[in-house]
Amino acid sequence: MDMVSLKNINKSFTTARGEVRAIRDLNLTIERGEFFSLLGPSGCGKTTTIRCVAGLEKPDDGEIWLGDDLVFSRAKNRFIPPHQRKIGMVFQSYAIWPHMNVFENVAFPLKSGVSERFSDREIKERVLEALALVQLQGFETRPAPQLSGGQQQRVALARALIKKPEVVLLDEPLSNLDAKLRQETRLELRWLLKEVGATAVYVTHDQAEAFAVSDRMGVMLDGQLAQVGTPRDIYLRPNSAFIADFVGRINFLEGEVAEQGPGKKVLKTPIGFIECPSLEKFSIGQKVKLGIRAESIRLCDTREQGAANCFPAVVKSAVFLGEYFDCHAAIGDYSFNIKVPSESEVTVGSQVNVYLPLHCWVVLSSN
Ligand SMILES: Nc1ncnc2c1ncn2[C@@H]1O[C@H](COP(=O)(O)OP(=O)(O)O)[C@@H](O)[C@H]1O
Ligand SMILES: [Mg+2]
Repeated sequence: MDMVSLKNINKSFTTARGEVRAIRDLNLTIERGEFFSLLGPSGCGKTTTIRCVAGLEKPDDGEIWLGDDLVFSRAKNRFIPPHQRKIGMVFQSYAIWPHMNVFENVAFPLKSGVSERFSDREIKERVLEALALVQLQGFETRPAPQLSGGQQQRVALARALIKKPEVVLLDEPLSNLDAKLRQETRLELRWLLKEVGATAVYVTHDQAEAFAVSDRMGVMLDGQLAQVGTPRDIYLRPNSAFIADFVGRINFLEGEVAEQGPGKKVLKTPIGFIECPSLEKFSIGQKVKLGIRAESIRLCDTREQGAANCFPAVVKSAVFLGEYFDCHAAIGDYSFNIKVPSESEVTVGSQVNVYLPLHCWVVLSSN
């Protein structure tokens, strides 16, 4: 069942510099229980999108559904305010009240609700349950300023979950944590939201984070959804050069489809003929742009010389990064970025053979 549905959403802001179109014709459907991320560079419209779902922004047109509830419709002149939407929200800044202790912070949404009333006993039970969920038992009376960043983030999460919302919106919730804690916390966060059965809409500009937590994700660019899919879809089958380049490192190569023997199509490129299984569906003479990821390329040994997609190259740079060498090797005038295993011997200026595996090429565009 669809849990979050955005239909033809547009949102502009009027600023001193003129009109900014923050969201353009955005259509998106997220299923119940799904962990969905919006990934994109700063300023692409992620926060505006999630704020529209929360009811903190009013779109210029379109419709927003939360389950069976139509919470916004321009045409029907409908707008359900944030506190009446079945959502919980975690912000980048946590927005923890500094003058309250942990218990009071987490209990806040239960006390401030206008539609529902909770008894003191109910409030206590719910707060203790939420704190147990985020592993902060025993922290009830701790003043908020005496919490670490990670603990504040958990308080914010417990507070977002306290009303048992069906949808939890998270806007860069981990960006104030240090790198190691961020890595641990992101999986905990996913586990927790799955445990309570919530649908998560998660905003991040960090691709590894989006890959790690998401069932599906959408890549945003200039207020539009450029591609929606599973992390593997997005990484292995990007639908454009922009997406391919935005997630991971990729090398591009353009050429023209040519025939090499009966029924065998290859790409004629400035570095030579490239074999790629996906070329079968293109016609001879068609121009095609291919991509191959830095970690898919290998330096091959002499036995592989002369094999398909194996080219002599010169190492132009090799930076040792621990996990791998970040290497550039030139085949003719074309420089390829290659992730070479740390234990390899690569020296700048040396001759190597570069293997561009057949099945690793992605077709990015054609005309
Ligand atoms: N309240 C606002 N007033 C004017 N411009 C805004 C406002 N909120 C966002 N914007 C603009 O809308 C665009 C998208 O912003 P935002 O949704 O915050 O992006 P992201 O969260 O992806 O970094 C940006 O160009 C931003 O400057
Ligand atoms: Mg933002």
